[in-house]
Amino acid sequence: KKLIIINGPNLNLLGKREPQIYGNLTFNEFFETIKEKYPQVLLEHFQSNIEGEIITKIQDVGFSYHGVILNAAAYTHTSVGIGDAVAAIETPVIEVHISNTFKREEFRHQSYVAPNAKGVIVGFGLQSYELAIQSFL
Ligand code: DQA
Repeated sequence: KKLIIINGPNLNLLGKREPQIYGNLTFNEFFETIKEKYPQVLLEHFQSNIEGEIITKIQDVGFSYHGVILNAAAYTHTSVGIGDAVAAIETPVIEVHISNTFKREEFRHQSYVAPNAKGVIVGFGLQSYELAIQSFL
């Protein structure tokens, strides 16, 4: 199975960004362990701080991959364009968040991705990504 994790803005700083919220592990450290754990999955990772690049990537994978695991980060709460891209593609999308966005500020309770997602996994730390992978197996 071919899956891709798409990470949005500031997630390149995982490990040093607000570790009390997002943990001490870098995404690459986590990604290496997860690839070893699920050798049967062709797992890719893409990160961008740029809204349009995320939209282009969703379009590029959205008619051929088995699944997209999308943490659009702050764009989750603002981007009609990313929401529309998720609606436009055929590949199912799981929205994930590391932190429990519902336990945080009101503006994080809104998602433009969720109405078009297959499901949403929120608040399990980096394990949110792993649970999303398992949902595709
Ligand atoms: C996040 C939650 C968002 O509200 C925030 O803007 C992020 C990370 C998470 O994974 O917890 O950048 O998507």
